Amino acid sequence: MPFFRTKEAPRTEVDFTNLPRHVAIIMDGNGRWAKKRGLPRTAGHAAGAENFRTIATYCKEIGLEYLTVYAFSTENWKRPAEEVSAIMGLLKKYLLEAIEKMERDRVKMCFFGDLSQLPEELQLLCERTREISRHYDGVQVNICLNYGGRDEILRAARRFALDCAEGKADPNHLTEAQFSSYLYSAGVPDPDLIIRPSGELRLSNFLPWQSAYAEFYFTDVLWPDFSKEELHRALASYQHRQRRFGGVLNG
Ligand code: IPE
Ligand code: IPE
Ligand code: MG
Repeated sequence: MPFFRTKEAPRTEVDFTNLPRHVAIIMDGNGRWAKKRGLPRTAGHAAGAENFRTIATYCKEIGLEYLTVYAFSTENWKRPAEEVSAIMGLLKKYLLEAIEKMERDRVKMCFFGDLSQLPEELQLLCERTREISRHYDGVQVNICLNYGGRDEILRAARRFALDCAEGKADPNHLTEAQFSSYLYSAGVPDPDLIIRPSGELRLSNFLPWQSAYAEFYFTDVLWPDFSKEELHRALASYQHRQRRFGGVLNG
């Protein structure tokens, strides 16, 4: 008996009446996508941003409740300055365009991460986008910008400790739900499905607290090539999983 798992047969039929509530995506592989085409890495980021637009719109169309995407990590500052500034420029462009179409799209946009380290203009755009879309009822898109899971947990711990020092919280009665309320993701249900394109099999500091019982879907496809059909494959795979959350299945 082989002890390795045989490769899952690709499935594409999705039950749209039974979608996960929350899908999270690590938008990885832009650089390799560009390299394969003899283009600069920044061209890959531009293609990645375009694909984000396509996938986010599609998630709204199919009625997904929450989409969280990893756009820039606390570790991504290690990249060459020109690449970082090109990414910041693309984010700015994306948000300006999103603001123009907001009234039509009605996508609720939120940001997870330490925005205070971003260029000021970008911070203002994030704030404006969040403010305008606050009451929209389409899919909620959470963009992780200068986001790091460990950083998020540390900040939450610091804020909780301060609340304890001020007598507003009691460390002896801290619950998981209460701690979650100190995270960037406060009020958002945990992701049901985390997708990572590009062939890497790791989380890279993405939602370590929230992913405790998430289902994972990895694919070699690079993010700019991650189409609606690829999303269907991920959703179909998810729908064939059995989630037990540590319990046993009935029957
Ligand atoms: C993801 O693509 C985008 C960011 C991390 C900002 P990468 O730039 O990491 O692409 P690869 O992994 O080098 O191909
Ligand atoms: C994760 O991708 C971060 C984003 C996609 C924004 P990275 O390319 O930074 O991750 P590593 O370095 O391969 O782990
Ligand atoms: Mg990468």
